[in-house]
Order: sequence, then structure tokens, then C-alpha cells
Amino acid sequence: MPAGRRYNPFRMIITIDGTVGSGKSTAAAGLARRLGATHLDTGAMYRALTLKALETGVPLEDPAALAAMAAATQIDLDGTPGAQRVRLDGKDVTQAVRENRVSVNSHYLARTAEVRKILVAKQREFAARAGNIVTEGRDQGTVVFPNADVKFFLDATPEVRARRRQEELQARSEYKSFREVFEEVTQRDLRDSTRAADPLRQAEDAVRIDTGDMTIDEMVDVLVEEVRRRVKEAT
Ligand code: DC
Repeated sequence: MPAGRRYNPFRMIITIDGTVGSGKSTAAAGLARRLGATHLDTGAMYRALTLKALETGVPLEDPAALAAMAAATQIDLDGTPGAQRVRLDGKDVTQAVRENRVSVNSHYLARTAEVRKILVAKQREFAARAGNIVTEGRDQGTVVFPNADVKFFLDATPEVRARRRQEELQARSEYKSFREVFEEVTQRDLRDSTRAADPLRQAEDAVRIDTGDMTIDEMVDVLVEEVRRRVKEAT
């Protein structure tokens, strides 16, 4: 956290942003568990709205229709690290939001500025109700919580991330060639970082971590150590 900053050790906001397959979700869940904090996976909000649009036939290319749908939708996340339940208008969609059809279509919702405004407000409300929170996404350190106590930006080479993504899909019995997954990952990177509304970028004060050669435990250790170091420095 910035020098001279006062902070409340029971209400810390830690942001983790990064590319597809960089290990954000695993890292955020592990860090939240170790700190006893709430875990907010903001990607699940964009995914929940994408699922609703796909299932109800709201046109993905129509920003006004997407915004109207978002304004009329209830999304509830329970903040459990690594086991977050997602409810969409009262229905449990925890599994459904992970389907590949949702992953490859979520950029329509993510690029719609009005939708982002609604979800950013929900994310801030969620954090206001939580104690310590680890929140992950693309814009958490840059747009949603610019004054966060500690910010991380995770990345790895596209090859490593595509391999991880392929394994993740296989674990859910979705089989795809490496080439196809690689193309999806690089396409999603491009869309995340070039959209006009809140594009993916590293906050100036974020700690960048290349997770390519790290095990999950190593990655979480690095994050925990960094948070502890900052807390110690500030007290
Ligand atoms: O991290 P993820 O794959 O679950 O994210 C799903 C989609 O939402 C993806 O298109 C990126 C987008 N997203 C975003 O634009 N901003 C966030 N804070 C989180 C996710």
C-alpha cells in the first residue's frame, strides 16, 4: 500500500487482475483462504449475464438490450473462496456459467459500458458488506477499487495459459485441440485488452507476477508474503 497510508486490517481490499488462464481464480481463492477473507470472482457476474442472454435469446450484439437485461437481473455470489456459489435470479448456475459457450461469448457483455457500470456498482456494494476481501477480474485494481490496499497483476505466456485452459476443459469433459484452445485464449486476450470500456491493463501500483513456472502453492505463498510484508511495513 502507498507509503503513509492508514488502513483497517479488518477491511482490506486486495485486487487480482490478469489474463485468461493466468491463475487469477486459483490464486485469489488460495489467498482469500489463507487470509480468512471473502473471495469475489467478478468474472462470474459477466458469465451469469452471458448465460441469461444465451438462454433467453437477448441479442448479444445489442448493447441497449443487454443493459436492460442487466438492470433487471439479480446476481448473488456467496464469496466462499474457491467454492463460490453463483445464483442468477434465484437459480443456482455455478456449473453452467463455466461452460465454454459462456466463456467464448462473455466478451459481448464485458464490452458493454452500461453493463459494466451496473456490475461495478454491484462489486463495490459487495465489498462494502465484506470484511477483508480478495477480488479478481480485469479492472479491479484500475477501475473498481483504485484505492485498494494491495494490487496484483498475474500473467503467463499464452502457451502456458492455453495448456491450463485445455486441462480445465478436459476436467469438465470438454475436449478441444491445443490449437483451438490457444486461438480462443489469444482471441480473448485481444478482446479484453483492446475494448474501449475498462480494458484489461496493469495498474501502475500493481505487483506483476509471472505464474508460468509456479505451482499453485508457490503462487499463493508469493501473494501471502507480499500482503504480509505490506501490512508489516504500514504498521
Ligand atoms: O475471468 P473470466 O474468464 O471468468 O471472465 C469472464 C468474462 O468477463 C471475460 O470476458 C472477461 C470479463 N471480465 C471483465 O471484463 N471484467 C472483470 N472484472 C471480470 C471479467
